[in-house]
Amino acid sequence: QWTTASIVEDQVAKIAAQVGDGRAICGLSGGVDSAVAAALVQRAIGDRLTCVFVDHGLLRAGERTQVERDFVAATGVNLVTVDARERFMDALAGVTDPEQKRKIIGREFIRVFEQAERDLKAEGDYRFLVQGTLYPDVVESGGGAGTSNIKSHHNVGGLPEDLAFELVEPLRLLFKDEVRRVGLELGLPETIVHRQPFPGPGLGIRIIGEVTPERLATLRSADAIAREELTAAGMDRDIWQCPVVLLADVRSVGVQGDGRTYGHPVVLRPVSSEDAMTADWTRLPYEVLERISTRITNEVADVNRVVLDVTSKPPGTIEWE
Ligand code: XMP
Repeated sequence: QWTTASIVEDQVAKIAAQVGDGRAICGLSGGVDSAVAAALVQRAIGDRLTCVFVDHGLLRAGERTQVERDFVAATGVNLVTVDARERFMDALAGVTDPEQKRKIIGREFIRVFEQAERDLKAEGDYRFLVQGTLYPDVVESGGGAGTSNIKSHHNVGGLPEDLAFELVEPLRLLFKDEVRRVGLELGLPETIVHRQPFPGPGLGIRIIGEVTPERLATLRSADAIAREELTAAGMDRDIWQCPVVLLADVRSVGVQGDGRTYGHPVVLRPVSSEDAMTADWTRLPYEVLERISTRITNEVADVNRVVLDVTSKPPGTIEWE
């Protein structure tokens, strides 16, 4: 009978045996899987693990703090934050096509992360890369047991180092609910362990139109209000996630305070789902919708209208881009 404590003990022993006296790197996304994988490895090898967190400027309010302060406080892990906000903004300037945005964000992310790996390799013998691969990912990709080697990179800058790592994947046999229990067992905060899904390209694919720092600030404020109110209403476990989308190229007329406004709409996209393959739009209580709408239009400059997405998946995807 596997208890959560015995899973932790078993994995910590396995990681210690695999890594020996080597060093490991783990990329943190802010999500559950990478956080729990990192916490397990930290338990096993302590400060021979270094975590890397890339701030691409497309994060939600409070997410960087959650990693830098709360995750570090809970685990004592070594953390390197790479502030790449300007780089991503430059790369995204003028881009409106969703697939283009995704490609650019993915490409820049890999470049920044690989640079961080190179910097660490120059400092010490980092031979292991930690990944939060879960059992369903393993099954989906048809992968068997055992460790694989990835060559994470083709030398972009003509550097001589070989960035091949041996993978450490302590969650390979676990399902999501087990991962969350392991996270709690390891003392991670609820806010991380029960975080709802958030896409890698972040707020960049929730601004319909060009991504700019001003638009990001607007969306970040509206999103923070929606999340606060959903949490206050105790709805977090009832919904799968609730993207807030800024229709940055659409304007509508409104009347606010002393006069006429010509602002942007935001869309609330609350969904219920088991696995994100299909989803239903969540029938949120009117009072909750009302509070979100009132607060967003009062508190977020430039937004004068809040609309509700009542489309299931299919035909709509969960994200708008
Ligand atoms: P869609 O929009 O395809 O989203 O219905 C399904 C689920 O996946 C999340 N999502 C992503 N997650 N990288 C991620 O890590 C991505 O590029 C990405 N795109 C969508 C989305 O939030 C939803 O939970």
